[in-house]
Amino acid sequence: MIRNAVKDDVKSISDLHSKCIYTGFLTSLGNKFLELFYCAFIETKSSEILVYESDGEIVGFVSCSTNLKDILKYIILHELHTLFFAVKHKLLDWKIYRNVIEDILYFRKTKYRVNSAELVSICARDDMRGNGIGSALVEEMIGKLKKQGVESVATLVSDDLQESKGFYEKNGFRLTGKIKLHNNKESSVYTYKIKRQ
Ligand SMILES: CC(C)(COP(=O)(O)OP(=O)(O)OC[C@H]1O[C@@H](n2cnc3c(N)ncnc32)[C@H](O)[C@@H]1OP(=O)(O)O)[C@@H](O)C(=O)NCCC(=O)NCCS
Repeated sequence: MIRNAVKDDVKSISDLHSKCIYTGFLTSLGNKFLELFYCAFIETKSSEILVYESDGEIVGFVSCSTNLKDILKYIILHELHTLFFAVKHKLLDWKIYRNVIEDILYFRKTKYRVNSAELVSICARDDMRGNGIGSALVEEMIGKLKKQGVESVATLVSDDLQESKGFYEKNGFRLTGKIKLHNNKESSVYTYKIKRQ
């Protein structure tokens, strides 16, 4: 069953994220940060998370936003103290500041994409993969975005996650660019064009 995520799901979503996307910058900030990050998705109107539940457990999720800057604003305005405690173990690591600046610049660029959304993360529990959970989540999210008038959905795929590229291609995304983030690590931009009837 696919449903909208609620605040009580944030811990399960963050656990799943850190197990599935173990190489990412967001993961490196720790589970407390991920909980704060995903809470912001639930609390801001321009973002959402869908979860896939099986036998009462969350086994997959997808997060999406039509305005990533709202996530940043929400954290700064409402949860700055939580952010401090979530990442305090990282505050002496200079790389974190460089990565955050790169992310802010990336968020600023997304401002100019009209009627577009960003698929930020998608995960399926490793023992449940290959059963269509990821595809069902993408299909449901695209259906929702279409109703909101969104015309394209982009996602950044780190070249560390080579295997997920096959997944995006299978689900109708096409490679539309390359971008270097976080210490010049190459990522691919995949885009899905939403068809209008
Ligand atoms: C990407 C991911 C969400 C896919 O979830 P899933 O439930 O296994 O996906 P589906 O069962 O719907 O797969 C559909 C298709 O995607 C492709 N696919 C899925 N996983 C793949 C893999 N590891 N390698 C190559 N192709 C893959 C296959 O073509 C598959 O079609 P098939 O079953 O006809 O062969 C899951 O592999 C995952 O959580 N990966 C780790 C996290 C990640 O990389 N997320 C993406 C970046 S944020």
